[in-house]
Amino acid sequence: MENSADAPAERIRIVNLLASSEPLEGVRAAGWVRTTRRGKEVAFINLNDGSCFASLQVVLEPDLPGFEKISRVGTGACLAVKGDLIPSPASGQNWELKAREVTILGDADAEYPLQKKRHSFEFLRTIAHLRPRSNTFGAVFRIRSALSFAVHQFFRDRGFLYVHTPIITANDCEGAGELFRVTTFDAENPSRRENRIDWSKDFFGERTGLTVSGQLEGEAFATAFSDIYTFGPTFRAENSNTSRHASEFWMIEPEMAFADLAADCRLAEDFLRYLVTFVLENCTEDLKFFNDHIEKGLIEKLETLAGAQFRTLTYTEAVKALSSAGRDFEFVVEWGLDLQSEHERWLTESYVGGPAFIIDYPAAIKAFYMRLNRDERTVSAMDLLVPRVGEIIGGSQREERPEVLSRRMREAGIEPESLWWYMDLRRWGSCPHAGFGLGFERFLMYVTGMENIRDVIPFPRTPGNAAF
Ligand code: 4AD
Ligand code: MG
Repeated sequence: MENSADAPAERIRIVNLLASSEPLEGVRAAGWVRTTRRGKEVAFINLNDGSCFASLQVVLEPDLPGFEKISRVGTGACLAVKGDLIPSPASGQNWELKAREVTILGDADAEYPLQKKRHSFEFLRTIAHLRPRSNTFGAVFRIRSALSFAVHQFFRDRGFLYVHTPIITANDCEGAGELFRVTTFDAENPSRRENRIDWSKDFFGERTGLTVSGQLEGEAFATAFSDIYTFGPTFRAENSNTSRHASEFWMIEPEMAFADLAADCRLAEDFLRYLVTFVLENCTEDLKFFNDHIEKGLIEKLETLAGAQFRTLTYTEAVKALSSAGRDFEFVVEWGLDLQSEHERWLTESYVGGPAFIIDYPAAIKAFYMRLNRDERTVSAMDLLVPRVGEIIGGSQREERPEVLSRRMREAGIEPESLWWYMDLRRWGSCPHAGFGLGFERFLMYVTGMENIRDVIPFPRTPGNAAF
């Protein structure tokens, strides 16, 4: 193997080659062909291995063994190259690789779908297995990976315990009936008793589904470890085909004992500022691409957010502002009704002109676990709204008083006995506590400027689509 170009394991990543401080002899790179160009004497291949936005220019000269074949290799082919890293005379790149040996690891013919420079995002969704090899999706998924790391770093620095909450669960945390069922029953012929499905005969001995949120189990851990967070997939069978809803998405849910709603909002604000600063400092090249091609002014928007104080409005103030907006909204604005996304967008984009917390929502439109305020009409809830995307965070202080909690559950049609273990947390050692959930994809949409949630998750699941 010593002198073979066919040794991808010993390769140097293109990101490292391009950052080299000196010329290098006999180095190996491997990657996928983005473009080829043949001149009279030489041929050029742009090779990308996903380690950074930029591709490496490989220079082929006629004395290269196999020159004729290699210089005609198709876009999308996979190559291993051994050569010398030399200063590049071309503008916009410091180094190029003068090839000495090239191995075609996997050829590609003219039917390779990523031939054009620009494809529509709709088209690229139909080739979700290949779109990571495009400029836009390379940048999206590098940022997604970097930010996942930053999420853990933020909480680790602050002493939060990372907990893995279950994916299969018997509780519907949000109480909205959006659980995907998990069952081993034969769909045609489930066990029945008196004409009804007998879930006690199912695999877990009760009705189970995929979790919509790790919060309830997170609360159990917060009342032991004080500060915890989860970061995992969540599932919602809500049939809303919008650009902001996915059936499977990732959520980050911190939960803090001894915290009220104000502390919850402070954590959310610090968290977002941290993530945005992280991406500004660590994902410069990819962000520049989004700034130039996807959302003009993106970097400035992120820099502003990194230094901004977020505005806070109560729900009641928000409804007042909406009512006097002089706008024709499609949905009615009235105290007691939920805010629709057109209302949320107007509040953050036109009224506040930046991120805004809306707090103290009517109890009747929010989940059972949110703490009832003294007015008995509103709960200590918060949603964080941002321009273009709308709600990216939902959170609250939790109801820690057992009698109020069981009353609220009954009002919501939930038998407290069905969540006996959750009630136990109020029975023994109850304490004020609060938390929130950040939708990771919604946040990525905000950070990249991508307008559809399907384009910030590797293989999106939405109503009618679970391909790949
Ligand atoms: O507001 P939600 O429903 O809150 C909860 O699930 C709480 N249990 C969180 C907590 O307090 N621990 O969801 C939280 C966030 C939303 O603000 C939104 O960003 C995202 O999750 N989200 C979705 N993202 C993509 N597709 C969907 N269908 C989403 N539903 C919610
Ligand atoms: Mg919400």
